[in-house]
Amino acid sequence: MKTAIYPGSFDPVTFGHIDLISRASTMCDKLIVAVLNNSSKTPLFSVDERVNMLKEVTKDLPNVEVTSFSGLLIDFADSVGASVIFRGLRSVSDFEYEVYWAQTNHVLRPHLDTVFLATSVDLSFVSSSAVRELSSHKGDVSAFVPAVIEKQIREKLNY
Ligand code: PNS
Repeated sequence: MKTAIYPGSFDPVTFGHIDLISRASTMCDKLIVAVLNNSSKTPLFSVDERVNMLKEVTKDLPNVEVTSFSGLLIDFADSVGASVIFRGLRSVSDFEYEVYWAQTNHVLRPHLDTVFLATSVDLSFVSSSAVRELSSHKGDVSAFVPAVIEKQIREKLNY
């Protein structure tokens, strides 16, 4: 049984994340989408809200579970018996940070590998930070997130 993790902040989940989840879920027996509970950041959505939003948009993928974690990703991977971490790469600007942590995590946990999926071309410009920036100015984010997520953004920001 191959268990994989797709970790991230998901504040909020975008079409880019959903594309990656659906592709990664075909490459393992169980995919755990893991929301980082990072107390040093002030997020738009709480961890529980992000977990619930991810559950909603992945409800048709039977081998996908959604949960949250605190602390180190490698410790979370140990706790769920995962041997693979999936991460998306949009462009070279993602590369340096991602490879650094993939290599660091691999030194610390040699049985744990990071698999990078190139983001689908039409989604390579999509990011949660752009969604937060646009929505903070009451902008249209319908090209970046599903309608059910857009509705929650509008409720949260009163527009
Ligand atoms: O979506 P993000 O914000 O780029 O996700 C970053 C994430 C959650 C994968 C990374 O910050 C993480 O795993 N943090 C947990 C602490 C840790 O293990 N850090 C080192 C590995 S990145």
